[in-house]
Amino acid sequence: MRKRTTLTAIDVGTTKICTIVAEVNDADVRVAGVGITPSNGMHKGLVVNINDARDSIRRSLIKAEQASGYKIESAYVGVTGRHVTSLNNRGAVAITRNDRLVRSDDLKRVLQSAQSVKVSGDRKVLHAITRSYAVDGQSGVKNPVGMHGFRLDVETHVITAAVASIQNLTKCIRSVGLDIEDLVLEPLASSEAVLTEDEKQVGVILADIGGGTTDISVFKDGSIWHTAVLPVAGYQLTRDIAIGLGLPFEVAEQMKKRHGSVLPVYEGRAETASLAEDGHGASYQDLCDILRARVEEIMRLILLELPRSEYEALVPAGLVLTGGSSNLSGMDAMGRDILRLPVRVGSPTNIYGIADNLRDPAYATGVGLLIWGAKHQSQQGWKKRGFVGNWWNIASRIRALFR
Ligand SMILES: Nc1ncnc2c1ncn2[C@@H]1O[C@H](COP(=O)(O)OP(=O)(O)OP(=O)(O)O)[C@@H](O)[C@H]1O
Ligand SMILES: [Mg+2]
Repeated sequence: MRKRTTLTAIDVGTTKICTIVAEVNDADVRVAGVGITPSNGMHKGLVVNINDARDSIRRSLIKAEQASGYKIESAYVGVTGRHVTSLNNRGAVAITRNDRLVRSDDLKRVLQSAQSVKVSGDRKVLHAITRSYAVDGQSGVKNPVGMHGFRLDVETHVITAAVASIQNLTKCIRSVGLDIEDLVLEPLASSEAVLTEDEKQVGVILADIGGGTTDISVFKDGSIWHTAVLPVAGYQLTRDIAIGLGLPFEVAEQMKKRHGSVLPVYEGRAETASLAEDGHGASYQDLCDILRARVEEIMRLILLELPRSEYEALVPAGLVLTGGSSNLSGMDAMGRDILRLPVRVGSPTNIYGIADNLRDPAYATGVGLLIWGAKHQSQQGWKKRGFVGNWWNIASRIRALFR
């Protein structure tokens, strides 16, 4: 049995930083404290001002430490942004030993061969996730250890990221005195928090519509099939309202959250209703028209991530929406209209402890990072991927000694 440990996850979002400390006992994740603060210095999921981002992260960290009573020393950190790309790759090795028995060493060898994708010097492999194995052509094998064969094939999902973007993020985290346990692609993290095993098996698309990015992951046959990050989300909705209705950004944001809906207007209040916010006025119909146009565009962009002709067969479980912007009234109905598939809004589940305010779609990534951490605790971390020079490690070890 694994002993109880504490884990920390930091979701450095475009609009908020969410630090969660949890006690983990096998698969049981019990939240001990949360620190949520507004985020500065971020744009479309990327660090654009290191000092501002660092200060926001520090505030969130301090809150989480005070709430949990733990001193945080390391964390699982989410990565997003349009610099992220993914592809499905294959690898194969021969089983040359006399007994032709597949051993765990062979899994390592075959995974290595599938990781050798050509990436330019400014990019690195962030994840190489095993989708399935084949032994002598028999495909769909989840664990081939102990099987007999001459040839072992593996299918992987390889995610690459721009080194510079990752370095900016890691620099912020490390400058507040934290070690990085692992960097995790945010669409993968969110999927851990809101998707069911059934949905992943049948085929499902997850869209985490946040403030600056829409993070997409597609699952089929229980494995990851595709991941993507679109640089459009809630921020663009608010900006459209601000420009379209001539309102300050903050007023437009309040109006969107309080009154916004993408349902047909007649299902809501009277078309002629007028809204007042902070001394500014607007028509309810105008607000909803603007939101509908942009949300429809986002939904169509999500759909473009799937092969046009066969998406119904690929994702019969439909679309699961999460992220703060999925709180917008009528998102699921609009999704069903456009995709002609089941659509639901997903909030984090399977977490316990002081987790009440985490049961909102906006915290799917933060909670998912924790679940990812609990599952992958003993596996290789970011350090082995060489995103940042060794001196960072040495510096943090020295800091840890002084602490
Ligand atoms: N009730 C609501 N109606 C409409 N939009 C909402 C509502 N609540 C939150 N939002 C929007 O959700 C967005 C923030 O979502 P979230 O917290 O998931 O983003 P983030 O993680 O900070 O950013 P990102 O993941 O894109 O980097 C904001 O644009 C906010 O306006
Ligand atoms: Mg987010």
